[in-house]
Amino acid sequence: MCGIVGYMGDRDATPVIMNGLKMLQYRGYDSAGICTMEYGAVDIRRSSGKLSNLERLLQLQPLYGTVGIGHTRWATHGKPSVTNAHPHRAGSVVLVHNGIIENYQMLKDELVRKGHWFESETDSEVISHLIDENLSAGLSFELAVQKTLLELEGAYALCVLSEKEENTMIVAKSGSPMIVGIKGREYFVASDMPAIIPNTREMVIMEDGEMAVIRNGKISFSTILGQELSKKTLHIDWSLAEAEKRGFPNYMLKEIHEQPQALRALIGDCLIKDEGDVLLEGLGLDDEALRSFDRLCLVACGSSWHAALIGKYLIEEQCRIPVDVEIASEFRYRNPIISETTLVIPISQSGETADTLAALREVKGRNRRVVSICNVIDSSIARESDGIIHTHAGLEIGVASTKAFTNQVVALYLLAIRLGRATGTISRNRGLEMIADLTELPDLVEKTLKLDFNAEEIACEHLTACDAIYLGRGICYPVALEGALKLKEISYVHADGYPAGEMKHGPIALIDRDMLVFVLAPRDRHLAKVRSNMEEVVTRGGRVIALCSEGDEETGKKAEFTLSIPWAGETLSPLLFNVALQLLAYNFAILKGKDVDQPRNLAKSVTVE
Ligand code: F6R
Repeated sequence: MCGIVGYMGDRDATPVIMNGLKMLQYRGYDSAGICTMEYGAVDIRRSSGKLSNLERLLQLQPLYGTVGIGHTRWATHGKPSVTNAHPHRAGSVVLVHNGIIENYQMLKDELVRKGHWFESETDSEVISHLIDENLSAGLSFELAVQKTLLELEGAYALCVLSEKEENTMIVAKSGSPMIVGIKGREYFVASDMPAIIPNTREMVIMEDGEMAVIRNGKISFSTILGQELSKKTLHIDWSLAEAEKRGFPNYMLKEIHEQPQALRALIGDCLIKDEGDVLLEGLGLDDEALRSFDRLCLVACGSSWHAALIGKYLIEEQCRIPVDVEIASEFRYRNPIISETTLVIPISQSGETADTLAALREVKGRNRRVVSICNVIDSSIARESDGIIHTHAGLEIGVASTKAFTNQVVALYLLAIRLGRATGTISRNRGLEMIADLTELPDLVEKTLKLDFNAEEIACEHLTACDAIYLGRGICYPVALEGALKLKEISYVHADGYPAGEMKHGPIALIDRDMLVFVLAPRDRHLAKVRSNMEEVVTRGGRVIALCSEGDEETGKKAEFTLSIPWAGETLSPLLFNVALQLLAYNFAILKGKDVDQPRNLAKSVTVE
């Protein structure tokens, strides 16, 4: 992960870089650092912990210069510390890096033999030493970087300065994202657009194997083999107003409450009511093409994988087509079987998750069709797919996915309608019914959000709990997984989700007075079975929090607490249960005093394997 920012222009570089890093904190917040160049000399400030520590350091020891690079780190190699923070320096070379250099140990051993001394435990430092070594051998800055890049195995986005070439910055990318913003003779380099948008909306998206040299107010692009390139400048018109908290205490709560509006944006983009069908123009597949697939393969990580699991339940049920759900990090190395009649669908909020992107490339490499479900339209996954369903959730800054997850599930619901209408498994009337249910969903989410107060009360009563189990059946099983993930990632309470029927095959051994059990019990076809499972927990002294459908006074009678969730039909109600679970996880974390937007050890966009 990690966030990179670079600036070259006529302004003081430090505030530009620090503002950019603030927008990229979601990419990592273990440590941060900045380097500026003035009159050809570089100066570095680094600190461990969040960016505010670096800000304080800069107040005491300011930096000057109109050229600079900065970094916010998510540690991979080497613990979070000042010495492991970027920028890394070797001789005249200073560098920030995002990615992982897989052959770094071999390169480092070689450099140590040649007399290089390493300050950090990172893989990144090796790049600065290699460039320095190549500069010392007499190569120009540009050639020294090019030669170095050819020796690297793994992923990188990097931004380099050298005291040997004043007012020159070299940027390169392979596997990790990198964007250059241009405003006259000013250049803004960053891992992601939000860091650039306050300065300019004219941007160049760099592709793998490309580098840029910014020198004295001019930029030139080439491949890392030195072949000149002419790159297209894009005008980015999305707004940064979304990046404000708008009166909420943190982004997570704001994003939870934005779900109704995010849903309306997605639904409004594609509903056609009269024919019981939806418009998914970005798919790039007509009815005939859709009919040619006999299997879907959904590939994702984390919460997006949970959305995919929900998608499996709903697409198989509605469209009678087999759906496989794959964890991207496993899929990519498994030599997966993908026939010509399989449609592969990567699902990703960020569109930059390394494993999901690699899975996509694996499939594309075999000339198979890929349609992604993605929230960031200019991301690598969106750009490299043959088609896209854009989830329209807007900017999601809180590290734990909330509104993006909800919209991913609804995107899959829309896909089910489109596919079912094309193949005939969904009749016009059934399509109309599904659309009618969907149209009511945003209001029902709004109603569910009113449970915040009850969620706080439940969290307050169970704040000392160290372990939690989430149980659900059918389409609520993946919701149980997602609820457990949300609790563990932001409150650090150990939590697991299970299919309720599976509990007696092992997890039931864990049940005692200290075990908190969240039971998802909508009034669907599984209710009687779920009630029995709940009974089994109560009998063994487990503390049950029951989530039941509104109007069901019976199911929760033996639970310590009951949350009544509005009814949105069998297929969509699970999303409302999930909203309630988001509120529960949020309240547990807040009452425990945790930072919900930036939970420890996590980063929003996982661009390393
Ligand atoms: C959990 C969460 C992560 C992401 C996962 C995939 O709340 O947000 O598990 O879902 O890292 O990220 P994307 O969807 O960006 O590919």
